[in-house]
Amino acid sequence: LVPGQLKKTIVMVGMMGAGKTAVGRALAARLNVPFLDSDHEIESAANLTIPEIFARDGEPFFRQKERQIISRLLEKERGVLSTGGGAFLSEENRRIITNGGVSVWLQADLQVLWNRVKHRDTRPLLRTENPYATLRSLYDARVPLYALADLQVVSDGRASIETMVDRVLQSLR
Ligand code: S3P
Repeated sequence: LVPGQLKKTIVMVGMMGAGKTAVGRALAARLNVPFLDSDHEIESAANLTIPEIFARDGEPFFRQKERQIISRLLEKERGVLSTGGGAFLSEENRRIITNGGVSVWLQADLQVLWNRVKHRDTRPLLRTENPYATLRSLYDARVPLYALADLQVVSDGRASIETMVDRVLQSLR
């Protein structure tokens, strides 16, 4: 891998709390390539936060925007793209991501994910009576789909962001 040059965009996929944004940003910095974030792009295009978009327009609308933004970002320039946790679930999105980039699943245990998301109130899907049970059922349903990613990198509770970057780079070799 030559810094500043990538054959394909590296697309970070996986559950909420897996570290897609933190690791993606650090990976882009290490490679000296642009960092792109689909959730961030959706928010700035709408001038609303993700919880606001879910509340105002509903999840199907969010998913439509997510698909449009991901395909546009993959056409635009090569870099590291962090996606939202739901982005790799539809067959169409997987096709778009697999054609335009190399997908990396940041794999983390349910407990690790829960420890990272439980204090944050930024995830509309976890605004339920029992957020832990919700996270667990999303996890169970989604893991088989994330497993379709090109590469898998384990994000355990102890690894630092820079260690995670090392692991992603190793898996890309
Ligand atoms: C979602 C994850 C969020 C965001 C939205 C939906 C999901 O992104 O896209 O709240 O379906 O898992 P993060 O994975 O960055 O939290």
